[in-house]
Amino acid sequence: MRVASFVLLGALGALGGVEAQSTFEPTDFNITEALVDLGVNITALPQLEGLVERSSSGACSIACSSLKLLYGASKVLSQSTTAYDAFTSSYWSIQQASVDPYCVFQPSSSSEVSIIVLISRLTQCPFALKSGGHGAFAGASSIQGGITVSFKNMKDISLSADKKIASIEPGNTWFDVYTTLQPNNLAVVGGRVSEIGVGGLTLGGGISYFSNLYGWACDNVASYEVVTASGIPITASPTSFSDLYWALRGGGNNFGIVTKFNLYTIPVTKMWGGGRVHLETEFPALMQAWYNLGVNAAQDPNAAQILAFARNSGMNLGIADLQYAKPVDRAPIFNEFFAIPNNLTDNLRIATLPELTQELQDQNPNGLRESYWTATYKLDLNFATYVKDVFFEEVTSIQTVPGLVAANAFQIVSIPILQKMALRGGNPLGLSTASGPLLLVNPSAMWTNAADDTKVLQAYARFTARTTAEAKKRGLNVSYLYMNYASQFQAVVPSYGSANLAKLRTVAQKYDPSEVFQELQPGYFKLSGAPSPSGP
Ligand SMILES: Cc1cc2nc3c(=O)[nH]c(=O)nc-3n(C[C@H](O)[C@H](O)[C@H](O)COP(=O)(O)OP(=O)(O)OC[C@H]3O[C@@H](n4cnc5c(N)ncnc54)[C@H](O)[C@@H]3O)c2cc1C
Ligand SMILES: *[C@@H]1O[C@H](CO)[C@@H](O)[C@H](O)[C@H]1NC(C)=O
Ligand SMILES: *[C@@H]1O[C@H](CO)[C@@H](O)[C@H](O)[C@H]1NC(C)=O
Ligand SMILES: *[C@@H]1O[C@H](CO)[C@@H](O)[C@H](O)[C@H]1NC(C)=O
Ligand SMILES: *[C@@H]1O[C@H](CO)[C@@H](O)[C@H](O)[C@H]1NC(C)=O
Repeated sequence: MRVASFVLLGALGALGGVEAQSTFEPTDFNITEALVDLGVNITALPQLEGLVERSSSGACSIACSSLKLLYGASKVLSQSTTAYDAFTSSYWSIQQASVDPYCVFQPSSSSEVSIIVLISRLTQCPFALKSGGHGAFAGASSIQGGITVSFKNMKDISLSADKKIASIEPGNTWFDVYTTLQPNNLAVVGGRVSEIGVGGLTLGGGISYFSNLYGWACDNVASYEVVTASGIPITASPTSFSDLYWALRGGGNNFGIVTKFNLYTIPVTKMWGGGRVHLETEFPALMQAWYNLGVNAAQDPNAAQILAFARNSGMNLGIADLQYAKPVDRAPIFNEFFAIPNNLTDNLRIATLPELTQELQDQNPNGLRESYWTATYKLDLNFATYVKDVFFEEVTSIQTVPGLVAANAFQIVSIPILQKMALRGGNPLGLSTASGPLLLVNPSAMWTNAADDTKVLQAYARFTARTTAEAKKRGLNVSYLYMNYASQFQAVVPSYGSANLAKLRTVAQKYDPSEVFQELQPGYFKLSGAPSPSGP
């Protein structure tokens, strides 16, 4: 059978690593025949039958009507239906919710995922994939006039017999995952906010409460089950298709569709955590405590933190989000924070992991205009203070924008995290302990009116340009941009460094020689650079 022989060829290629250029997809690959092999009765789909791998003006009309004939209205949502409207309004940001696909396809198996890829190729109707829908900008996981694939029917979560691996389908949120694993006193290294999707967070990196202990989410994947551009399902692990496994550890949606994430489990009973809010007078002490915790992470890697600065109703606030991976009240590693006086609120307490993720969800509701940005620098306390000050300066220039909530989250990519990134063959992010620890900056904005988009986005572009220029002056610049926080104006994959970019291109060329995931799935961070390179 054709499909089986491709897999064999691919496996042979994988033995030699990236260097071995296998014909994973033969040059005479016949999409129609591949669909027939998957059990699709082409003759029953009159319009598809007539198509011979060519673009058609009615591409998406043909693709969507074929899907509907195959799967019915319950799996293929059309415009102007209640189900379609409910789907588009389920995105986090209003920018993504405003995108109107020609139809929404909701596959329930890996082979249905293969079929959508092949139908897209045959008709040349483009597609996008939505997991948790928290990518902020339009087109991240939505596509105007194309097929948006929703994973809502792919929500299996299962534990291996020895409970060491949790197999998770991409329709799950982290809340689903954590609540399912909790009765076993287990968790995985995943997101910190309940409604974030497993798909996007894990493919872009994935900062967790447990990262000082185990690294990022992408560094705790045992294997990925992937549908490739030819519709062939394969398992990428350190020992099988290891080049693809490496690429998926932070390379995003550029290589295939992940239908199952097999994640290593970790022991978690209860946690401790919450937030403390302070006024500007305590900022120096907050920054010092945050810095010391970051450089001392190895002393007690159960600790996690985010230090966020926000302008709220004209007032500057500093918010320390602190967590501990065990049910220990006020672990000594946080003592410097506890010594800071005048907290406005403090809800630090023993809590479950799902409870902590729900608390952060409440601060990040759906339905607003949103933008996320990112920058990475060498960790330096004076420079971090400069970055905080420049942020407030730029926010002042837009503070009359209705509904504006401006925040800037400071995190530290600690030495323990960087060490874990090197495990199991490493990842493509281009980070190493040599340049660490790192300051990871995540400025974000929520606002009300589309009329203010340019003004808000330009302020954030100025902020990142100014701080990056200053970092270069001080010798603190690092090229890496974190995919999960980047704006549509930032060139994420090239920021991993030229050697990693070249290697990623080789992997893409091997598994996707006709560039399906670059051309037919155009949204989000492609190998070539920023989604909107000309800036806001
Ligand atoms: C409120 C909030 C909290 C956050 N907290 C964290 C955090 O704690 N840690 C952190 O690291 N990041 C965090 N992020 C950033 C988050 O990781 C990114 O927004 C991420 O893209 C969200 O994933 P998603 O599945 O919800 O998004 P989606 O928009 O559904 O997907 C993002 C991208 O991934 C692709 N994709 C999704 N699933 C698959 C798949 N199965 N196969 C191939 N491609 C796929 C999509 O096509 C899309 O291009 C947060 C973001 C927000 C808005
Ligand atoms: C693919 O196979 C079908 C059925 O065997 C055939 O009709 C078609 O011409 C082939 N397409 C190409 C591009 O070779
Ligand atoms: C395929 O569809 C055609 C047209 O509807 C039908 O005549 C034929 O029996 C179908 N073949 C199979 C194998 O179901
Ligand atoms: C925060 O301040 C309150 C008093 O306002 C105090 O009772 C509480 O202990 C403080 N929290 C911490 C963690 O120090
Ligand atoms: C920092 O910036 C300088 C000047 O642009 C550049 O030459 C250097 O390669 C950069 N360093 C890193 C680590 O990106």
